Parts: sequence; C-alpha cells; structure tokens
Amino acid sequence: MSVIQVVGGRPLNGSLRIQGAKNSVLPILAATLLVKGETVITNCPNLSDVDAAIAILNHIGCKAGREGESVIVDSRTVTRADVPHELMSEMRSSVIFMGAMLARMGEAKLSLPGGCELGPRPVDMHMSALRALGAEIEETGGNIVGIAKKLTGCNVNFRFPSVGATENAMLAACGADGVTVITNAAREPEICDLADFLRKLGMDVQGEGTPTIMVRGRPQSAHIIHRIIPDRIVAATYLAAAAAAGGEVELIGVNPEHVMSAIEIFREMGCHITESGDRLTVKSSGSLKPAKAIETQPYPGFPTDMQPPIMAAALKCAGTTVFVENIFENRYRHAEEMRRLGADIKIEGRVAIVTGGKKLAGAPVKATDLRGGAALVVAALWAEGITEVSGIAYIDRGYDNITGSLGKLGASIERVL
Ligand code: EPZ
Repeated sequence: MSVIQVVGGRPLNGSLRIQGAKNSVLPILAATLLVKGETVITNCPNLSDVDAAIAILNHIGCKAGREGESVIVDSRTVTRADVPHELMSEMRSSVIFMGAMLARMGEAKLSLPGGCELGPRPVDMHMSALRALGAEIEETGGNIVGIAKKLTGCNVNFRFPSVGATENAMLAACGADGVTVITNAAREPEICDLADFLRKLGMDVQGEGTPTIMVRGRPQSAHIIHRIIPDRIVAATYLAAAAAAGGEVELIGVNPEHVMSAIEIFREMGCHITESGDRLTVKSSGSLKPAKAIETQPYPGFPTDMQPPIMAAALKCAGTTVFVENIFENRYRHAEEMRRLGADIKIEGRVAIVTGGKKLAGAPVKATDLRGGAALVVAALWAEGITEVSGIAYIDRGYDNITGSLGKLGASIERVL
C-alpha cells in the first residue's frame, strides 16, 4: 500500500499552475451524451474520478479517452444505458449520468450510489426532479432504473440548492420539450461552467449562478472545444499549505473570485495575499492568528470542501478557531487523524473547536476522504518529523500529482510504494 511521506518544517516557495476543476469535468463529461458529435475538453486534471467517468462513457458505447491535458469524447454512438455497480462504486457522483442518459437514450440503469465517507449521500432531490420532467424511476435491488419515453419542460424546485441535483435537472431538461425553470438552484461556479458548455452544444440556458435557472433544450450535433474552469478547492488547499508552512507561493491559472471566501480567512490569519488577473500570491511568516468562525454554506457561502484543508491551517493559529459544518453530516473524520499529530480539536455535532498554536509531531495517519486526506498532507507539512499518510487513493480522486506540486514548492514529500 503506497503512502505519502512528508518531512515537516520546510517553507514553500515558487509558482504552481492550478489544475482544472474536478467538479466541473464530471458533469460536463456526462453532458457530452446530449449530442451526437465529438467534444474536446481541455484543462482536464489527471484524476481517478475523471478516469472513472471516461470508463462509464466507454461502457455506454461512446469513444472517450485522454490526450494529454484533454479528454476527447465521440458520442455519435451509444449502445447501452446501464452503468454497472463496479463503475458506479468507483465514483459516487456517477448519479450525474442519469439525467443525460434519460435525455439521450430515454432510459438509464445505475446502481444506487452508496453512502460515502461524508455520511449518507441521498439522491431524493435528483429523482424528484427527473420524475417532474416525466421520467418513471424505480429503486429496486440496489439499482435505480429510469425510463423516459418523453421528457417535458416544467418547474423544478429544490428544498436545498443541491449541486448534483441541479446539474442532473439541467442535463435532463436539455432533452425535454419546452422550457424548464429550476428554482432554489445551486449557484456554484461549476454550475456556470456546465451552463457555458451546454450553450456551446446549442442549448438555451439562462440564469446560472443565480437561484433560478432556465433551460430550453435544442440538441444539435456538435464538434466543440471547452476549457474547464480552475479548481477552486485545490487552489484553497495550496493556499492553506503555504499559510501553514510559511513562505511565498504564486498560484497560476486561478479565478480569485471563486476562492474569495478562503482568501478572506487567510488574510484574517495574517497572510498577505495579492491578486493579479489569474494569479494569486500568498506570503506567510508561518505564524498565524485565528480567523472568525467558519460556517460552511452553499455557494457563494464558505465551501464545505474547503473546511478540511483550512482546518489544517487553523491548527497553526495561536488561539481558537470555530468551524460549523452545515452541508454534510459527517465531515470531521479528518479531525481524529489530526489528533494523532497532536491537534487539539473538540467536535460537538456540527461544531468543531480547534485550539491551535501547539506543535504537531509527525505520525502515521490515514486519509478518510478526499479533502480530509489533503488536509492531513497540509498538516504534515509543518508537523515536526515524518508523517506518513495512507489511504491516498482518496487524495488521487481530486488532486493531480499533489506530491509533485508540493515538492516543486520545496516540501520534503514523496509517494512511497
Ligand atoms: C457536490 O456534491 C460536490 N461533488 C462535492 O464535492 C461538494 O462537497 C458538494 O457538491 C457541496 O458543494 C461533485 O460536484 C462531484 P449536494 P453533491 O447535492 O452534488 C444532501 C469533493 O470533495 N442531498 O450539493 O453530492 C447531501 O446529502 C466533493 O469534491 C440530499 O439530501 O452535493 C448533502 O448533505 C465532496 N438529497 C447536501 O444535500 C439529494 O438528492 C449537499 O449535497 C442530494 C443531496
């Protein structure tokens, strides 16, 4: 079992280009099913989740593959409408393929996405949106089976602005007759990137980034190129690494607006952050002070995915930092592993109270999920001595070459088989 081994205590200095956004690539790969054509998606990160999505497209009958930083999908032929359990289980968010498959083939059979490290991952809002558009959906024997002889535009309202459910509704609406209006829609930048892509396919999409999105499907054959937006969560992770380890790091190819809530936190902690176009430069002495309470909320609130890496930086802040996790039920599992490094973190339901400023000592720790694993690497950068992070398959789902990136900035870090 390979591990990431870090010798802590070294500052980070240099420049790093930020990868394309995992959570934008996945729905856009699903959206390639909506037209019969060839799509070139550029700025695609090299991640196991992207490989899983490519495998699903090939299983369905498309021809999909990676060419350098691009993924090319020929969706002219599709031969089947099922996604087997072994492919679904690799990536829980594969449920995002349902809306596009119903729009393209009128049917879809997926195995129920299991819960994951963050707690139960229900898909009730996905299914209610697809049923509202005219799909008949049954959950039997661990599978979700959907049939849609015809999809008809309608009003879809979400009780909570679910990212995945909003994306599934947008994708299915592209195959519906008439107009679909989605209210209380998610507003994440990845939703806006999907809308940009759908317009390139010929669809009429308006309102993305606001709570109300209108979709009118006009599928056309397409040969298009689309560049994925930068990954704001990965950018925030490397900001946390530089803040905690100390040094001066320039991130290239970022959208500062998408990481503004994290930038504000790091400035409160005492970092100096400057923005110039698509570049962010962070300077940190490595001694930090606590920021105000951090409450995760749907975008444009503080992103839940940034909570774990920023908690790793909060361990360096001399004083108390309070976190409130409002999005997922079980998103503090990394705290238990951080305690193995000597962290003082008290969890009371959705609240985590971090008392930082204490020395951390390197130790073997285990990634419990994607962002929690990255947070352990951030903490290891400044823990004294050697930290070995296992369970790194979680990290590889979302971070393209995290060891090479941090090593380039001066960290003593390597993947040990
Ligand atoms: C997306 O997950 C992201 N994943 C997650 O990133 C991110 O944490 C999350 O949005 C919130 O921003 C991808 O985009 C692939 P939700 P998603 O539907 O769509 C509940 C990462 O680390 N819910 O907005 O699954 C759900 O249980 C990952 O990159 C229902 O109850 O998130 C959760 O508590 C982790 N019923 C809340 O809503 C539903 O039908 C938010 O979930 C759907 C969701």
